[in-house]
Amino acid sequence: MISARLVVDTDFVISELDRRLFGTFVEHMGRCVYTGIYEPGHPTADENGLRGDVMALTRELGPTIVRYPGGNFMSGYNWEDGVGPKNQRPTRLDLAWYSTETNQFGTHEFVDWCAKVGTEPMLGVNMGTRGPDEARQFLEYCNHPGGTTLSKLRQANGAEKPFDVKFWCLGNEMDGPWQICQKTPDEYGRIAQETAKVMRMVDPTITLSACGSSNHDMATYALWERTVLEQCFEQVDFISLHTYFENKHDSTEEFFANIEVTDTYIKEIVAVADSVAARKHSSKRIMLSFDEWNVWYKKRAVEDLRKPGWPVAPRLIEEVYNHEDALLNGGAMMALINNADRVKVACLAQLVNVIGPIMTEPGGPAWRQTIFHPFALTAKYAQGRVLRAVTESPSYEAKTFPEVPYLYGAVTDDESNGQTAVFALNRHLSEEMELSIELRGLGTERQLVTAQELYHPNVKATNTKDEPDTVSPAPLANVQIDGEKLRVRLKPGSWNLIVTSAANRS
Ligand code: AHR
Repeated sequence: MISARLVVDTDFVISELDRRLFGTFVEHMGRCVYTGIYEPGHPTADENGLRGDVMALTRELGPTIVRYPGGNFMSGYNWEDGVGPKNQRPTRLDLAWYSTETNQFGTHEFVDWCAKVGTEPMLGVNMGTRGPDEARQFLEYCNHPGGTTLSKLRQANGAEKPFDVKFWCLGNEMDGPWQICQKTPDEYGRIAQETAKVMRMVDPTITLSACGSSNHDMATYALWERTVLEQCFEQVDFISLHTYFENKHDSTEEFFANIEVTDTYIKEIVAVADSVAARKHSSKRIMLSFDEWNVWYKKRAVEDLRKPGWPVAPRLIEEVYNHEDALLNGGAMMALINNADRVKVACLAQLVNVIGPIMTEPGGPAWRQTIFHPFALTAKYAQGRVLRAVTESPSYEAKTFPEVPYLYGAVTDDESNGQTAVFALNRHLSEEMELSIELRGLGTERQLVTAQELYHPNVKATNTKDEPDTVSPAPLANVQIDGEKLRVRLKPGSWNLIVTSAANRS
């Protein structure tokens, strides 16, 4: 048994939580769209071909914003191909994923799906094969109320009212050699500046995010962000971050250190963005959009990324997640929460089948992967403001980080309903953790709202079509409450949520 302590105080607030931190991502890749969210003829499909079982699971997952249509797909996409009568839409080669794109699903279907699952659409413009002209036209099509050829075309295609999409990505991973029409930081920074400028002329109410590095191991990491922001600092609001966690040493403890690496990554990009602000003598602060993150390492071979013969919706990177992946993702969400003063948007990549928390079979069932659970519980209970979680815990040394505490925690507090949510990860794989929690200034007459744990004795346990609930949340027993203090025992290798409320706040 190890002991650990977590203390928060209402005097130490990090930030209000931006609920867009709990976004996901739908790309035209593999079976994310086709036989994922869209499958006409499926027994649960609605009149537009949207799978009802996937919509129900998406509502339960609770994403607050969903990025679309890519990903790498975005850099070769013509948005015009995906609007208008379906029988007139062109079939094209998708060079990002060596697939055939039928365009039976496009912007109207995506916006319709977002409304039905209760989430906000986030769109991206093609900065690979196209640029400012396409971007301004796509935005005018989506957001202009009426009276122009493009807005009338939207209306003729069935959407009388504008889609009013607020959050727009200026391309995707433009630093990557794999990207269709990769750019140098100078080329991208300049074109991002001009694209942002003309998009704001069309609709000044939008929020714009520039591409950051594809990951923190890129050769141009940090130099890319600095060069890009030096050019488009005034025009954009966000810079993006992407990361895919790998278990390089086949060691769970090493794997868990990705949480600290992510925290460092965020702080480094904040430092770069603020150094550009300093050079410009500006008080403006660029925010971070962590618009692709997840575990992804088991299905990364060439044959996982492309199939021969230009197939439609092939099975690409259908990673099967295990318990340790869920634990890491739960911890990564806490790292996002703990950096809520600068990370305002984040998207778990992706939503269905393609490295997704939801899996489907064509014509068959849909089920929850292990990583579904910490996301759904966090998206539901992390509300209000983020309190600085100060922890004391024994720690271990990892290859990628010198001191990794066994306890990782985050705390949110919703003043509107008096509920405080404590998220706690016990990274010790063989020892239980006796955790004492102090919630200072949050009231003494506390009551338990819910306490849940995600635990399985085998960190490699998975959820499958036939056994979809092997790794699932269960009640966390024996939460002791004594005024401002809580005491609880956490199982080894477990992710935990404890929500309490107090009526008598000062
Ligand atoms: O999510 C899969 C791919 O990973 C995305 O298309 C791309 O942006 C990233 O490299």
